[in-house]
Amino acid sequence: MRRVGGIAEVREAVRAARRDGATIAFVPTMGALHEGHLRLVERAHAEASYVVVSVFVNPLQFGPGEDFGRYPRDAEGDAAKAADAGAHLLFMPDAGELYPREARVSVVPVGLGDRWEGPIRPGHFAGVLTVVLKLFGIVQPDVAIFGQKDVQQATLVRAMVEDLNVPVRIVVEPTVREADGLALSSRNRFLTPDERLTARRVPQALREASVAFAGGARDAQAIESAARASLDGAPDVAVDYLAVVDPVTLEPVARAAPGHVVLVAARVGRTRLLDNLVLGS
Ligand code: PAJ
Repeated sequence: MRRVGGIAEVREAVRAARRDGATIAFVPTMGALHEGHLRLVERAHAEASYVVVSVFVNPLQFGPGEDFGRYPRDAEGDAAKAADAGAHLLFMPDAGELYPREARVSVVPVGLGDRWEGPIRPGHFAGVLTVVLKLFGIVQPDVAIFGQKDVQQATLVRAMVEDLNVPVRIVVEPTVREADGLALSSRNRFLTPDERLTARRVPQALREASVAFAGGARDAQAIESAARASLDGAPDVAVDYLAVVDPVTLEPVARAAPGHVVLVAARVGRTRLLDNLVLGS
């Protein structure tokens, strides 16, 4: 695996790979790599012959009060994991490489970004889409792999490539979970042992929704109540939102159908947990 920090080096490596007949898959990350990220790298191998991984903690997508400063960083560990997973090229730019001057243009979502994470994290999705479009412009992949774990992000990236005619195919890979159901996340390490036990209730809530749906419930409110029962009353849990939504528009639905998504965001102590489940899957 080659590890580079410069845009020109990425372009050169990708050009050389293409000259050799390779197709290019890309996995953008913010590092602190875990099994969830590595599953995306595995999928990248199934989709193309040359795999590029980026690690960049993107300041643009963090709000002023958010955890940019304490976001976990482990360049050496990430490089070892990416190499183990068979990445061909690891792009680890510093902020000066990606943002050499004050921005004049950014990618701001309309509509899709107004709900759920949008109002809670103003500017977050503009930061995500802007860096993803920049990374697509740098790597110029055929295909890019994202996680279902961040379903609103994946939906917005799909919308961006469609609306802006970006020639990158988007693949979304299912969420990788711990044995007790908790979705893997770089932020889980901030949970205290007690909070970690409480955190199980988030995937449990999704399972309750799924059980209700499998049992014939179609009224979205009834499904949401079934899910909330796992979270309400738990110590140290504050639900930001829990809803059954359409997978394309992310609008809440009144009646649930297979393929609809149950979205949940909850704070356990100081840590925000995001998760979702596709009904009937
Ligand atoms: P990050 O949080 O590092 O996640 C990188 C990718 O890994 C995302 O597509 C995310 O959905 C996926 N992922 C995270 N946890 C996962 C899990 N448990 N199972 C499967 N996939 C998982 O998302 C970002 O970084 C950034 O916003 C980024 C897209 C890199 C732009 O800065």
